[in-house]
Amino acid sequence: MPVIQVEKLTKAFRTYKKKPGFRGALAGLFHREYEQTLAAKDVSFTVEEGEFVGFLGPNGAGKTTTLKMLAGLLYPTSGEARVLGYVPWERQDGYRRQFALLLGQKNQLWWDLPARESLELNAKIYGIAADSFERTVGELTELLDVKDKLNVMVRELSLGERMKMELIASLLHQPKVLFLDEPTIGLDVVSQKKVRQFLRHHNATRKTTILLTSHYMADIQELCPRVIIIDHGTIFFDGRLHEVLDRFADFKLVTIQCESGESGSAENLKKYGEVVEQTPASIKLKVKRDRVIPVCKALLDELLVSDIDIQEVPIEDVIRQIFARQ
Ligand SMILES: Nc1ncnc2c1ncn2[C@@H]1O[C@H](COP(=O)(O)OP(=O)(O)O)[C@@H](O)[C@H]1O
Ligand SMILES: [Mg+2]
Repeated sequence: MPVIQVEKLTKAFRTYKKKPGFRGALAGLFHREYEQTLAAKDVSFTVEEGEFVGFLGPNGAGKTTTLKMLAGLLYPTSGEARVLGYVPWERQDGYRRQFALLLGQKNQLWWDLPARESLELNAKIYGIAADSFERTVGELTELLDVKDKLNVMVRELSLGERMKMELIASLLHQPKVLFLDEPTIGLDVVSQKKVRQFLRHHNATRKTTILLTSHYMADIQELCPRVIIIDHGTIFFDGRLHEVLDRFADFKLVTIQCESGESGSAENLKKYGEVVEQTPASIKLKVKRDRVIPVCKALLDELLVSDIDIQEVPIEDVIRQIFARQ
């Protein structure tokens, strides 16, 4: 049975539309106008045990809302979900002990305590035994390289260090399911890499089921074989990351090496595609996917080609394109 089952999950937020100025505020006292935002609309998917799924979408797409419903922080307007057999918003203790939600944009640790004490408080909430706590904190601080930061006040930690502590806090009770909402946002490149390595290791060794959102395609590319893409509250792709390219990438990059001075005139090459780069001995063309084979044939006929290389457009560009199109 899948660990996460989501069926037509929908969340409508009703927001009060305030008219400008004092008159508007006064009018609002008597007659309020509401606007409705469908933050999630008929969202359906399933996730099997141990999967590491990337949840992608532009700002405001409905990612956080969906994760919050799965964590039981929000009631859906309609639809169903089960995680580990539990209905999240029933907030049963059995469920609370088996999942964690990390909100990268929110601080969940006690600001005015040393990191260690803040973690201890978290451990108390979950009723974690002292020896188990010591073992877990020892192991996780080692892996995340923050062993020497345990006595530092949370508010004095760097963003990267704090996020690592947040991650440790969310893992103290050894959850089977992890919802990670932008866990690397704003981190320096080194911390980002460390967190990524850690997550990969954790998923591989513990078989933890993880749903991750991130603005950084590097996170998704390194961690998530499968992605779910959502926009305006609706899922429009759910599949292997590499299939995103097959489905949405309109172009490939064709690079040709030829005898020096033989790379032809840019004007002449334009008919094959956009010239991205050109040196006397090489050309890089952006060619429509379905034209790649005929274009290569034509180039081989026309030029003294010594090498040819066909590459996918970077996935980051493809995703950006998809969202620009929506
Ligand atoms: N508490 C709320 N009240 C009203 N609207 C909200 C609330 N939370 C989120 N929204 C709206 O729902 C939509 C989805 O938001 P969110 O789930 O945070 O998107 P994402 O995490 O993908 O950036 C946005 O239009 C957002 O403004
Ligand atoms: Mg969000």
